[in-house]
Amino acid sequence: MDSTGERGWWWPVALQDEGVHGPQALRLLGHSLVLWRTPEGEPVLLDDRCPHRGARLSLGRVVNERLQCPYHGWQFDAQGACALVPAVPGFTPPASSAVARHGVKVEHGLLWCNLAGEASHPPPDLSHLPGRQLIYGPFDVETSAPRAVENFLDTSHFAFVHEGWLGDAAHPEVPDHDVSHTPDGRPVIEHYRAWQPRASASAAEGGWVDYRYEVLNPYAALLTKRGEAGGPQDSYVIWACPVTPESCRLWFAQYTTDTDTPAETLRDFQVAIFAQDQPVLESQQPKTLPVSGGEAMSAADRLSAAYRRYLKAQRIAFGTC
Ligand code: FES
Ligand SMILES: [Fe+2]
Repeated sequence: MDSTGERGWWWPVALQDEGVHGPQALRLLGHSLVLWRTPEGEPVLLDDRCPHRGARLSLGRVVNERLQCPYHGWQFDAQGACALVPAVPGFTPPASSAVARHGVKVEHGLLWCNLAGEASHPPPDLSHLPGRQLIYGPFDVETSAPRAVENFLDTSHFAFVHEGWLGDAAHPEVPDHDVSHTPDGRPVIEHYRAWQPRASASAAEGGWVDYRYEVLNPYAALLTKRGEAGGPQDSYVIWACPVTPESCRLWFAQYTTDTDTPAETLRDFQVAIFAQDQPVLESQQPKTLPVSGGEAMSAADRLSAAYRRYLKAQRIAFGTC
């Protein structure tokens, strides 16, 4: 199987506790998957297509440690092998009756899948982030994963989309900043200084904030912000699951030193911010991200330009144009 480009990475597909109430349909890179659990709770990801007559296995149910197809009841084990054909008792199904099984692992509160069948690029290491972790989502968004990630990296929309929160219409200018790269070529802004009317859920008034941006992989990015007057350090990760070339499923993870603010308050802030982003994101045409020119750029778009070059260097074709 082709493991270059987007297929050679592990991608998040669900929250880590999904699939416990029965088989669940998921989509990754245009591929239909079914998530189910063994009686021990182990997650299993198989192709969501029965090899018998092509019915969706996600409409079936788990019986005796196996996934049973809704149509003629064929049963598949956790390896994807067909273990039972009820219409022909005593028949031993051949290997060709198996369903493809995909790698699955739990990391950062999410379930990850690799379609290439090999451990290539693992989920990023976030062990340096603050210990209080919250995850918001999923948000199903009608745009490509790269459009969503680029929006997360984009600061010049703050004064317009997040007026009164992350930006101030009286100060739309983007301050001087440098884009650098990690040794493996991921774009980074080490310092980006911005004045924000309301930078976080616990902010009572406006203040100067120091941002650090880092692209984590082709469909994920990290931002850390710290108020210059003190206060909590907040790190946010956008995890984008590339569902189709023009749609994605997002989760936002927050890692914070703020141990006082209730989880609901932190969540409400992030949900309110993304509700401001989503209509604009879904309005962008094309929904795929142009990585080879075709959109106007300004000096304020340096990180976006670096992200597009990075996607091209990584040969990411899904969600780009
Ligand atoms: S289609 Fe699945 S058992 Fe026939
Ligand atoms: Fe935004």
